[in-house]
Amino acid sequence: MRDDFNREISYLRISVTDLCNFNCEYCMPEGIEKKDHSDILRIEEIENICKVAARNGIKKIRLTGGEPLVRKGILSLINKIKSIDEITEVAITTNGVLLDEMAKDLKAAGLDRINLSLDSMDENVFRKITRGHELSEVYKGLESALDAGFENIKINTVLINKVNDNEIGDFIALTKNKYEVRFIELMPIGSTARYAKEHFFSADEVLKRYPQLELQENTDKSSPAAYYKLPNHKYRLGLIRPITCNFCSNCNRLRLTADGKLKPCLHSDMEIDIKKIACNDELLEKSFLSAISQKPEKHHLDDGKYIIRGMSKIGG
Ligand code: GTP
Ligand code: 5AD
Ligand code: SF4
Repeated sequence: MRDDFNREISYLRISVTDLCNFNCEYCMPEGIEKKDHSDILRIEEIENICKVAARNGIKKIRLTGGEPLVRKGILSLINKIKSIDEITEVAITTNGVLLDEMAKDLKAAGLDRINLSLDSMDENVFRKITRGHELSEVYKGLESALDAGFENIKINTVLINKVNDNEIGDFIALTKNKYEVRFIELMPIGSTARYAKEHFFSADEVLKRYPQLELQENTDKSSPAAYYKLPNHKYRLGLIRPITCNFCSNCNRLRLTADGKLKPCLHSDMEIDIKKIACNDELLEKSFLSAISQKPEKHHLDDGKYIIRGMSKIGG
């Protein structure tokens, strides 16, 4: 399905919960309020939305949160989505802690791919960012995911000025023979927008510090990352630059929030409420078409406009 700017929309990112077992300082305000259970889409409702989405051009689904693995019923949801013919890939973006107990079951359920959020490899900095969590838990989860047979795990690292910018070299070192790493520019969103502005670190600075990085050919035009590589490194380094080099012209995605709002764009307040029609295929289809036709050409972060809903309620 093409939008008004001739972009093929084939990727749906679904936030399955806005709860998280972490509480990262750039993502969530302290003491975030919990959603009433009835406000959250039921697993069967999400399944039905995926079926209708697939009939309307969606091929790839990524489950996000909050933390997607804290959502009850996530395994059966993955299993059901995998059984939809048109869906070629089901992935998650996770902080990794629950992978230790869930990786095998996720593999058995049919999950194709994992992206892991990891913002520091220094125990103390990690504790500061996550407001008190242990880095060792993430490493355990990562090991379990590898043991369960997950390949091509990508590490997502948000660049945070004066917090983790001294670790850029350590993360790049992971690309030598371990993982693909992607640095993400901090985006001003919701109630943590001020933190994002105060701690912004430009991805261009990474290129200045490492002039040996070689730009790679872009094999996936809709990826938010531009890819680089150090000579003799096995894996790529991705730079996701929504602020300094936005990728809106190639955007192929829609988003669904945990409380049932279809979002044509991460950085627009525009939302279509599909909670009440989650079991009505005809109305759902209309909402999908409407979301696609209303997808804005680009975001307006550079004009200082940012949205109210926080990242943990959208899913990145
Ligand atoms: P792949 O399927 O591996 O390409 O993953 P992905 O990049 O689509 O998903 P992931 O959840 O790993 O996203 C990485 C980060 O890119 C997110 O956390 C966001 O910060 C950012 N991002 C993803 N999609 C968008 C988008 O549409 N707009 C903007 N501005 N940022 C995005
Ligand atoms: N800016 C950029 N990335 C963010 N994430 C969460 N909040 C922000 C933000 N304000 C990232 C997480 C995770 C992904 C889903 O979104 O670190 O990798
Ligand atoms: Fe949780 Fe991810 Fe937000 Fe951290 S960034 S609080 S892990 S949703």
